[in-house]
Amino acid sequence: MEVKISPSILSSDYANLESELSRISNADMVHIDVMDGHFVPNITIGMPVIKALKKVCDIPFDVHLMISNPYDYVDSFAKAGADIICFHTESSSNIQATIDRILYLGKKAALAIKPDTPVGDVLPYLDKLDMVLVMTVEPGFGGQSFMERVLPKIKAIRERRSDIDIEVDGGVDFSTVALAAEAGANVFVAGSAVFGSDCPCDAIDTLKNNAYSAL
Ligand code: DX5
Ligand code: ZN
Repeated sequence: MEVKISPSILSSDYANLESELSRISNADMVHIDVMDGHFVPNITIGMPVIKALKKVCDIPFDVHLMISNPYDYVDSFAKAGADIICFHTESSSNIQATIDRILYLGKKAALAIKPDTPVGDVLPYLDKLDMVLVMTVEPGFGGQSFMERVLPKIKAIRERRSDIDIEVDGGVDFSTVALAAEAGANVFVAGSAVFGSDCPCDAIDTLKNNAYSAL
Protein backbone atom coordinates (compact mmCIF):
# COMPACT_ATOMS: atom_id res chain seq x y z
CA MET A 1 0.00 0.00 0.00
CA GLU A 2 1.39 3.37 -0.99
CA VAL A 3 2.01 5.77 1.89
CA LYS A 4 1.09 9.40 1.23
CA ILE A 5 1.85 12.44 3.38
CA SER A 6 -0.55 15.37 3.29
CA PRO A 7 0.84 18.32 5.28
CA SER A 8 -1.86 20.60 6.70
CA ILE A 9 -1.28 24.26 5.91
CA LEU A 10 -3.35 25.11 8.98
CA SER A 11 -0.03 25.08 10.84
CA SER A 12 1.82 27.13 8.21
CA ASP A 13 2.43 30.87 8.04
CA TYR A 14 -0.71 32.26 6.39
CA ALA A 15 1.14 35.48 5.56
CA ASN A 16 3.51 33.55 3.29
CA LEU A 17 1.56 30.64 1.87
CA GLU A 18 3.38 30.46 -1.46
CA SER A 19 6.78 30.13 0.21
CA GLU A 20 5.33 27.72 2.79
CA LEU A 21 4.20 25.45 -0.06
CA SER A 22 7.69 25.54 -1.53
CA ARG A 23 8.97 24.07 1.77
CA ILE A 24 6.91 20.88 1.26
CA SER A 25 7.82 20.08 -2.35
CA ASN A 26 8.11 16.33 -1.57
CA ALA A 27 4.56 16.11 -0.15
CA ASP A 28 2.09 13.80 -1.90
CA MET A 29 -0.84 16.15 -1.29
CA VAL A 30 -1.53 19.46 0.40
CA HIS A 31 -4.19 19.26 3.13
CA ILE A 32 -6.34 22.38 3.22
CA ASP A 33 -8.67 22.79 6.21
CA VAL A 34 -11.83 24.75 5.44
CA MET A 35 -13.83 25.73 8.55
CA ASP A 36 -17.06 27.73 8.61
CA GLY A 37 -17.51 28.66 12.28
CA HIS A 38 -20.70 26.54 12.41
CA PHE A 39 -19.65 22.93 11.91
CA VAL A 40 -16.58 23.69 14.03
CA PRO A 41 -15.94 26.69 16.27
CA ASN A 42 -13.09 28.00 14.09
CA ILE A 43 -13.01 29.85 10.76
CA THR A 44 -10.19 29.46 8.25
CA ILE A 45 -10.04 29.93 4.49
CA GLY A 46 -12.24 29.32 1.48
CA MET A 47 -12.37 29.21 -2.30
CA PRO A 48 -10.51 32.44 -3.18
CA VAL A 49 -7.39 31.37 -1.31
CA ILE A 50 -7.49 27.85 -2.79
CA LYS A 51 -7.85 29.36 -6.26
CA ALA A 52 -4.83 31.57 -5.69
CA LEU A 53 -2.71 28.74 -4.29
CA LYS A 54 -3.60 26.48 -7.22
CA LYS A 55 -1.72 28.84 -9.52
CA VAL A 56 1.52 28.42 -7.60
CA CYS A 57 1.42 24.75 -6.59
CA ASP A 58 1.37 21.51 -8.61
CA ILE A 59 0.78 19.14 -5.68
CA PRO A 60 -2.79 17.73 -5.52
CA PHE A 61 -5.09 19.62 -3.12
CA ASP A 62 -6.73 17.52 -0.42
CA VAL A 63 -9.55 19.80 0.74
CA HIS A 64 -11.08 18.94 4.13
CA LEU A 65 -14.47 20.63 4.44
CA MET A 66 -15.45 21.19 8.05
CA ILE A 67 -18.61 23.01 7.05
CA SER A 68 -22.31 22.46 7.75
CA ASN A 69 -23.60 22.32 4.16
CA PRO A 70 -20.89 20.80 1.96
CA TYR A 71 -23.28 19.89 -0.88
CA ASP A 72 -23.94 23.57 -1.51
CA TYR A 73 -20.23 24.29 -1.99
CA VAL A 74 -18.66 21.30 -3.76
CA ASP A 75 -19.04 22.90 -7.20
CA SER A 76 -17.23 26.02 -6.00
CA PHE A 77 -14.41 24.06 -4.38
CA ALA A 78 -14.00 21.89 -7.47
CA LYS A 79 -13.78 25.02 -9.61
CA ALA A 80 -11.31 26.62 -7.21
CA GLY A 81 -8.88 23.71 -7.61
CA ALA A 82 -9.69 20.98 -5.11
CA ASP A 83 -8.55 17.54 -6.33
CA ILE A 84 -9.94 15.55 -3.41
CA ILE A 85 -13.06 16.87 -1.70
CA CYS A 86 -13.64 15.51 1.78
CA PHE A 87 -16.77 16.22 3.81
CA HIS A 88 -18.18 14.95 7.10
CA THR A 89 -20.93 12.40 7.73
CA GLU A 90 -22.01 14.68 10.61
CA SER A 91 -22.76 17.59 8.25
CA SER A 92 -26.33 18.44 7.20
CA SER A 93 -25.94 17.46 3.54
CA ASN A 94 -27.27 14.26 2.02
CA ILE A 95 -24.23 11.98 1.99
CA GLN A 96 -24.98 10.00 -1.17
CA ALA A 97 -25.97 13.10 -3.14
CA THR A 98 -22.79 14.90 -2.10
CA ILE A 99 -20.55 11.96 -3.04
CA ASP A 100 -22.34 11.68 -6.40
CA ARG A 101 -21.90 15.39 -7.07
CA ILE A 102 -18.17 15.31 -6.28
CA LEU A 103 -17.66 12.35 -8.62
CA TYR A 104 -19.79 13.98 -11.32
CA LEU A 105 -17.45 16.99 -11.11
CA GLY A 106 -14.52 14.67 -11.84
CA LYS A 107 -12.98 14.96 -8.39
CA LYS A 108 -12.05 12.34 -5.82
CA ALA A 109 -14.61 11.89 -3.05
CA ALA A 110 -13.70 11.39 0.59
CA LEU A 111 -15.89 11.04 3.67
CA ALA A 112 -14.73 12.01 7.17
CA ILE A 113 -15.84 10.87 10.62
CA LYS A 114 -15.19 12.58 13.93
CA PRO A 115 -13.65 10.61 16.84
CA ASP A 116 -17.02 9.79 18.44
CA THR A 117 -18.85 8.90 15.24
CA PRO A 118 -19.40 5.14 14.82
CA VAL A 119 -17.52 3.56 11.94
CA GLY A 120 -20.84 2.10 10.77
CA ASP A 121 -21.81 5.57 9.53
CA VAL A 122 -19.18 5.44 6.79
CA LEU A 123 -19.25 1.75 5.82
CA PRO A 124 -22.34 1.91 3.54
CA TYR A 125 -20.51 4.35 1.25
CA LEU A 126 -17.14 2.62 0.95
CA ASP A 127 -17.71 1.31 -2.57
CA LYS A 128 -18.21 4.82 -3.96
CA LEU A 129 -15.39 6.55 -2.11
CA ASP A 130 -11.76 7.18 -3.04
CA MET A 131 -10.79 7.85 0.56
CA VAL A 132 -12.09 7.78 4.14
CA LEU A 133 -10.78 10.30 6.66
CA VAL A 134 -10.73 9.10 10.25
CA MET A 135 -10.27 12.05 12.61
CA THR A 136 -7.93 11.36 15.51
CA VAL A 137 -8.75 14.68 17.21
CA GLU A 138 -11.92 16.74 17.46
CA PRO A 139 -11.91 18.84 14.29
CA GLY A 140 -11.32 22.57 14.57
CA PHE A 141 -7.77 23.16 15.68
CA GLY A 142 -4.22 22.00 15.01
CA GLY A 143 -1.76 20.91 17.66
CA GLN A 144 -4.02 18.51 19.62
CA SER A 145 -3.08 15.06 20.94
CA PHE A 146 -3.65 11.90 18.90
CA MET A 147 -6.57 9.77 20.19
CA GLU A 148 -5.49 6.12 20.17
CA ARG A 149 -9.02 4.97 20.96
CA VAL A 150 -9.96 5.75 17.35
CA LEU A 151 -7.60 3.10 15.92
CA PRO A 152 -10.14 0.21 15.88
CA LYS A 153 -12.24 2.20 13.40
CA ILE A 154 -9.31 2.28 10.98
CA LYS A 155 -8.92 -1.49 11.32
CA ALA A 156 -12.63 -2.02 10.63
CA ILE A 157 -12.48 0.02 7.42
CA ARG A 158 -9.30 -1.70 6.24
CA GLU A 159 -10.92 -5.11 6.81
CA ARG A 160 -13.80 -4.09 4.55
CA ARG A 161 -11.71 -2.60 1.74
CA SER A 162 -8.06 -3.44 1.26
CA ASP A 163 -7.53 -0.97 -1.60
CA ILE A 164 -9.12 2.25 -0.31
CA ASP A 165 -7.08 5.20 0.93
CA ILE A 166 -7.56 5.65 4.68
CA GLU A 167 -6.42 9.04 5.92
CA VAL A 168 -5.81 10.01 9.53
CA ASP A 169 -5.91 13.61 10.68
CA GLY A 170 -4.97 15.06 14.04
CA GLY A 171 -1.95 14.66 16.27
CA VAL A 172 0.05 12.69 13.71
CA ASP A 173 3.76 12.84 14.56
CA PHE A 174 6.84 10.63 14.14
CA SER A 175 5.54 8.05 16.63
CA THR A 176 1.74 8.17 16.22
CA VAL A 177 2.13 7.79 12.45
CA ALA A 178 3.30 4.22 13.13
CA LEU A 179 0.26 3.43 15.29
CA ALA A 180 -2.07 4.62 12.56
CA ALA A 181 -0.15 2.71 9.87
CA GLU A 182 -0.26 -0.50 11.93
CA ALA A 183 -4.03 -0.09 12.18
CA GLY A 184 -4.30 0.17 8.40
CA ALA A 185 -4.05 3.87 7.51
CA ASN A 186 -1.92 4.90 4.53
CA VAL A 187 -2.53 8.66 4.13
CA PHE A 188 -1.26 10.89 6.91
CA VAL A 189 -2.17 14.51 7.55
CA ALA A 190 0.39 16.37 9.62
CA GLY A 191 0.27 20.05 10.50
CA SER A 192 2.49 20.81 13.47
CA ALA A 193 4.82 17.86 12.82
CA VAL A 194 5.68 19.23 9.37
CA PHE A 195 5.38 23.00 9.57
CA GLY A 196 6.69 23.09 13.15
CA SER A 197 9.90 21.50 11.91
CA ASP A 198 12.97 23.45 10.76
CA CYS A 199 13.16 21.12 7.75
CA PRO A 200 9.62 20.25 6.60
CA CYS A 201 10.93 18.08 3.74
CA ASP A 202 12.92 15.97 6.21
CA ALA A 203 9.87 15.70 8.47
CA ILE A 204 7.81 14.42 5.53
CA ASP A 205 10.49 11.81 4.72
CA THR A 206 10.67 10.68 8.35
CA LEU A 207 6.88 10.38 8.63
CA LYS A 208 6.83 8.33 5.42
CA ASN A 209 9.67 6.03 6.51
CA ASN A 210 8.10 5.47 9.92
CA ALA A 211 4.77 4.63 8.32
CA TYR A 212 6.32 2.17 5.84
CA SER A 213 8.23 0.48 8.68
CA ALA A 214 4.98 -0.05 10.56
CA LEU A 215 2.89 -1.28 7.65
C1 DX5 B 1 -8.00 19.84 12.58
C2 DX5 B 1 -7.57 19.74 11.16
C3 DX5 B 1 -6.24 19.16 10.99
C4 DX5 B 1 -5.09 19.88 11.64
C5 DX5 B 1 -4.07 18.86 12.07
O1 DX5 B 1 -9.37 20.09 12.61
O2 DX5 B 1 -8.48 18.96 10.42
O3 DX5 B 1 -5.95 18.95 9.60
O4 DX5 B 1 -4.48 20.83 10.82
O5 DX5 B 1 -3.07 19.49 12.78
P1 DX5 B 1 -2.00 18.67 13.65
O6 DX5 B 1 -1.29 17.77 12.71
O7 DX5 B 1 -1.16 19.74 14.22
O8 DX5 B 1 -2.77 17.91 14.70
ZN1 ZN C 1 -7.93 18.41 8.37
